[in-house]
Amino acid sequence: MTRGTAIITGASTGIGATYADRLAKRGYGLLLVARDRPRMETLAARLVRETGVGIQIVKADLTVTDQLLSVEMMLRSEPGIVMLVNNAGIGGGGPLQSADPTYLDQLIALNVRATTRLAAAAARRFGGEKQGTIINISSVTALFPERMDPVYPATKAYLLALSQSLAAQLAASDVRVQVVMPGATRTEIWERAGGSLDSLPSEIIMDVDDLVDAALAGLDLGEIVTIPSLPDHSDWQRYEDARAHLQPNLSRSNPAARYAVAGSPTNPAG
Ligand SMILES: NC(=O)c1ccc[n+]([C@@H]2O[C@H](COP(=O)([O-])OP(=O)(O)OC[C@H]3O[C@@H](n4cnc5c(N)ncnc54)[C@H](OP(=O)(O)O)[C@@H]3O)[C@@H](O)[C@H]2O)c1
Repeated sequence: MTRGTAIITGASTGIGATYADRLAKRGYGLLLVARDRPRMETLAARLVRETGVGIQIVKADLTVTDQLLSVEMMLRSEPGIVMLVNNAGIGGGGPLQSADPTYLDQLIALNVRATTRLAAAAARRFGGEKQGTIINISSVTALFPERMDPVYPATKAYLLALSQSLAAQLAASDVRVQVVMPGATRTEIWERAGGSLDSLPSEIIMDVDDLVDAALAGLDLGEIVTIPSLPDHSDWQRYEDARAHLQPNLSRSNPAARYAVAGSPTNPAG
């Protein structure tokens, strides 16, 4: 008896493989998606042995349209799917002035296009079934893009905005949307992007087990935005309050008085 099936993208290693471990131990059947089938088979064999849950493996490169569409189709039609962990992602990219445009296309195809299509398929299905959980893996870099090369944090800011809008649209239903914002986490993504974690102080790097355990605890707490390292959640609430304070003035008929153009009110306070 399982709790339904969780589909996890980028499940061959790192954060996705750790979600697979934790969700199998919570009793979910799994549908693992990534390019490296042997790694997923090794993981699945261990999890079947340890938990007895059913596990399906799908080899797919989510930047390739027909492979993405076949995963999207499974997400729409495979019986029993109750959760999407929209995790597959790549980093790097370099400064925009010198970046390889083909690599940037890959980055956007995986981090934006594939995550959007899968989130849309899940939202349609779960919305119809009136239950289900969508977990999008963003990054804290969405909050400080100035410290990074531009494209990766921009893709993660996109995913934060997508998740916040989707959560608001589905708020009245029993469909859960959570966006997880990891900081630096010990996985292969750094080396894959041509970098290294060695250049970072150890006190800002989280182990992947802790990251996923905290993210799932945030899900259990009902959080929409989970920042696993943030000691005081009210700091995030203050950030949200500042956003809410801006909102009434973000679209008005008059330009602001400080621009002193024809349509500006003469009284700066007005
Ligand atoms: N680690 C960090 O410091 C950190 C921080 C913030 C956010 N994140 C986010 O967390 C997510 C997971 O990252 P991670 O750190 O676990 O990275 P990782 O260890 O490099 O794992 C990435 C996963 O994505 C899969 N993948 C890569 N390209 C793919 C493609 N074209 N099609 C299908 N699957 C693909 C990889 O599997 P295959 O190679 O087998 O396809 C792998 O399973 C990413 O979205 C990342 O942006 C990570």
